Amino acid sequence: MDAQAGLLFEDASLQNIAQSVGTPCWVTGAGTLRRRTRNLKAAFAASGLNVSLHYAMKANDHLATLTLLRSEGCGADVVSGGELMRALQAGIAASDIIFSGVGKTDMEMALALESGVGQINVESAEEIRRLSNVAVKLRRTARIALRVNPDVDAGTHEKISTGRAHDKFGIAWDDALDIYRDAATLPGIEPVGLAVHIGSQILSPTPYKAAYTRVADLVRELRINGLPVHIVDCGGGLGIRYRDELAPAPAALAGAIRDTLGDCGVKLAIEPGRWIAAPAGVLLSTVIDVKRQSEDAPDLIILDAAMNDLARPALYDSWHGILPVSPERLNAALSPQTVVGPVCESSDVFASSRPLPSLRPGDVVALLDTGAYGAVMSSNYNARPLAAQVMVDHGQWQIIKERQPIEDLWAGETVPQWCHRAPE
Ligand code: LLP
Repeated sequence: MDAQAGLLFEDASLQNIAQSVGTPCWVTGAGTLRRRTRNLKAAFAASGLNVSLHYAMKANDHLATLTLLRSEGCGADVVSGGELMRALQAGIAASDIIFSGVGKTDMEMALALESGVGQINVESAEEIRRLSNVAVKLRRTARIALRVNPDVDAGTHEKISTGRAHDKFGIAWDDALDIYRDAATLPGIEPVGLAVHIGSQILSPTPYKAAYTRVADLVRELRINGLPVHIVDCGGGLGIRYRDELAPAPAALAGAIRDTLGDCGVKLAIEPGRWIAAPAGVLLSTVIDVKRQSEDAPDLIILDAAMNDLARPALYDSWHGILPVSPERLNAALSPQTVVGPVCESSDVFASSRPLPSLRPGDVVALLDTGAYGAVMSSNYNARPLAAQVMVDHGQWQIIKERQPIEDLWAGETVPQWCHRAPE
């Protein structure tokens, strides 16, 4: 905080940004992206592990973020043709791209093969057969890793758990050996290894260890059966502190990988998204109104940002810190307030009865740790244009995405003639 400028983000005044650009506005910190990527790499290097880092771009896929992370030496983990095109557009080498995802169309497979992505993570026998057909037609070879489902509960929110037997992701454990063996016989397919990802916002190394222990066992079993395994993709999921969570340090993940897979003689990869990007972003929003409730209920702070901008609280009951950006409000006394967006849904609530400095119409607040799964999950619900985006670095800032023009909301829509017909 600066006595004059209020809340700073990487030395840039958030008040100034809000005044110049308007709100809602996402702000991404270049320095935070860099620092966290370097910290992650350093933690793995300190564990003696050579791990390639494939940023899970679903967390924040802006070209500026991708380009910065590419400059830091990251590859990408993509889950759609669109993400693949974006990663290539940002200059990430196809060979540094892993194509994950539970359902890839033939067209997406062809795009991946033609652009030469380094690895395709496959999730079923059916998908491998389809990939083989596409590869044969294109005279290409798909280097595949089998995403296996280790049946491990990551202990995270129900909606972001992916590694339990009943989740839709991955190949059932008992089928993995047969499917790997069959894949090796298919034309256009080269199985190179295994991939595992058990969920997101994981707050303990224990489920990681359990999953990687199983994967290490499977690597040995495959080899005993004469099948080569060169790569293990350890997935993403490392959690962060949003409120008061005890989030594990990257060293804990590195340790879990080293202790389980370190001796397997495989090339290792990780796919973090949230850990890198979440703390590198805030969402700026202005208080539209303060609605007085009944005497014993907290004031309702109505923001100009809503669940269409930041969907996480409505979807996962997630908690994001909220700070006013002006110096006067930052120091004001706290009282319980409920912070909501203007969208016509009861779930459009950012905070309930939370102690906050008293807010007034016109105040700007920052919703914290919204750099991952923030702007990427925005929609146009309630005909609300997508918010502007800014990137800051060492006190300077630049608009990296203009606020969506209103006319864009109906661009591409056509109205059939019969819609104009009045009742006879
Ligand atoms: N790799 C795979 C195969 C994934 O499915 C995911 C995330 C990641 C890597 C990156 O996970 P991370 O390191 O970011 O936890 N929208 C939700 C999170 C969904 C995560 C989906 N998969 C949220 O806002 O909490």
